[in-house]
Amino acid sequence: MKSMKLYTNVQRIHNELAALGIGLDAALRVDQLTPFDQYHYFGTEAVDEALEVLQLQPGSRVLDVGSGIGGPARYIAAKTGAHVTALELQPDLDEVARDLTARCGLSSRVAHVCGNILDGAAAENYDAVISFLCFLHIPERPKLFAACRAALKPGGVMYIEDFGKSRPVSADEAKALLVKVQCAGLPGKAEYESHLVAAGFGDVSISDVTASWKDFTASRLAMFRAARARGIEVHGREIVDDLDDFYATVAQLFHDGAIAGLKIVAR
Ligand SMILES: C[S@@+](CC[C@H](N)C(=O)[O-])C[C@H]1O[C@@H](n2cnc3c(N)ncnc32)[C@H](O)[C@@H]1O
Repeated sequence: MKSMKLYTNVQRIHNELAALGIGLDAALRVDQLTPFDQYHYFGTEAVDEALEVLQLQPGSRVLDVGSGIGGPARYIAAKTGAHVTALELQPDLDEVARDLTARCGLSSRVAHVCGNILDGAAAENYDAVISFLCFLHIPERPKLFAACRAALKPGGVMYIEDFGKSRPVSADEAKALLVKVQCAGLPGKAEYESHLVAAGFGDVSISDVTASWKDFTASRLAMFRAARARGIEVHGREIVDDLDDFYATVAQLFHDGAIAGLKIVAR
């Protein structure tokens, strides 16, 4: 996983907070973190779109698969009063996530679990499963979707943002995807749908958002480069170079039409 440079030096969020004058033990608000803790596209705007679909209530139970440093989980818990289980594979991300959640006073509403969705989710009573840009890392789709299906209550809903296949990729693109994005292969839209249906999801809708993700990844890279000097001041050159490499790789893949962006609702 650490060959994907978004996932190295994840403590860098503390550098951003320090630049705002916020110390390591200070209490935090969710809105102070959201510019830095959303590891997907369009930040909380994308999470709000999910919330429109999910219609969560205070006390609803949500499983966030591949929760990163906990950005979407905290935002959802704070905004809706839902209880979110934040399942994250990588221990260092999970540790940063737990600390930030505690400092936001949200530990009673966000439960952090360090583990692999392929090992099965803890409970079978979630109203909703959400997953932002995690499934691209998991080639075993039948096993993945069976675990998600098993985690849901009857009538539950799963909301996914993920990469999909847009065309056959070149050898160089496949290597960039594998090494720098930890993505061994992607399903096309029809294959995605058939995997979900085979796992027991009866009502599946998939929207193609490739054009907006192409624009987002291009402007993320341009903005990051425009702020390079400040980035080096805050984080040091190594972190800035690592993130530049990751952002550039993804922007190039979208620019060249090598991958698609998909939003999926499966009931
Ligand atoms: C691009 S990040 C997105 C994080 C978060 N969803 C967000 O939007 O801020 C994807 C996350 O999925 C996690 N992940 C990948 N495979 C996983 C698995 N099998 N089980 C649980 N988490 C996984 C990665 O470790 C990574 O933190």
